Amino acid sequence: MSFINNWLRPDIKAINAYHVPLSDDMVKLDAMESPFPLPDALIGQYLAYLADVQLNRYPSASANELHQTLRELMDIPDEFGVLLGNGSDDLIQLLALACDTGDAILSVEPSFVMYGMIAKFTRLNYQSVALTNDFEIDADAMQRAIETHNPKLIFIAYPNNPTGNTFDRTVIETIIASTNALVVLDEAYYAYADDSFLLDINKYPNLVLLRTVSKIGFAGLRLGLLIGVQDTVTALDKLRLPYNINTLTQVSANFLLKEKDEISKNAQIILKERTELSSMLGAISSLQVYPSQANFILFKAPSANLLFEFLKTNGVLIKDLSAAPVLTDCLRVTIGTQTQNQTFINLVKRFYD
Ligand SMILES: Cc1ncc(COP(=O)(O)O)c(C=O)c1O
Repeated sequence: MSFINNWLRPDIKAINAYHVPLSDDMVKLDAMESPFPLPDALIGQYLAYLADVQLNRYPSASANELHQTLRELMDIPDEFGVLLGNGSDDLIQLLALACDTGDAILSVEPSFVMYGMIAKFTRLNYQSVALTNDFEIDADAMQRAIETHNPKLIFIAYPNNPTGNTFDRTVIETIIASTNALVVLDEAYYAYADDSFLLDINKYPNLVLLRTVSKIGFAGLRLGLLIGVQDTVTALDKLRLPYNINTLTQVSANFLLKEKDEISKNAQIILKERTELSSMLGAISSLQVYPSQANFILFKAPSANLLFEFLKTNGVLIKDLSAAPVLTDCLRVTIGTQTQNQTFINLVKRFYD
């Protein structure tokens, strides 16, 4: 028995590590990243901007300029508070750390895996309510779960990952109004969705939003934000590690996120590609394609794991979700460039020929 096996908490020993597959030289359509690199015209100015960075100093602790940049990018009203995280994963963990031992966290199933994993890391009681067959929230089951578990936190991804849909708004509003939990609407995919709860923050004292720049072109920066009423944000800020947003992220984001037109132009391209890819997938009779409000598409495919392996062998990486009970035979593909999407769809067609 190795030292670490004796030493480690048994529940952590039992967890499978978050698996990131190798993707070198592959068409990478597995992680909802943006396919667009920095425009060439920006690179020179960006590097010049970086030249002034003082890496011998700690980052700006308040990150005031970055706060302002994000407020402008996402049209966040001045009266709301904003808390920055090293990716929104960091903020999910911060919220879990704010809970008391044994508190329950509630979400839906399937949803973003980190809600459950972080609940495990922080020894919280994770509960989830199965979505209906059409991936909606089962309102009655949710109310029963709220009564039974009295959750401290409720995570709802809006749009949801991996299903891609936004849930019925009135169901979410009923949940927010009927619980003492802090309800966290995770809007990681806000740039690709028709609806948002941003302006509902004023209506509900127990509502906060999570957003990230990971899905709009800057996954490498690791920068997420929590938006809520100011006193909620001020209280949660006590749990933030000092200097959690490193200097290179702050400086890069301040330069790159000011390119609002470029960012929304890229989002528009993804939306157009999503429509095209959905209809190309839909035209393959053996596939069932689910509607998406995000930068990915979930689809059901006969022999899904064989299709996944076939794509991988031919240099295209997507996500195989087929082992999850409610997602039998489901795969998830991130929207790429037109060329990447075409490569993907040609292989899918070849597979079913
Ligand atoms: C719903 C949802 N929230 C949060 C994240 C993580 O975002 P970040 O890269 O900011 O940690 C993801 C990533 O896939 C996601 O799907």
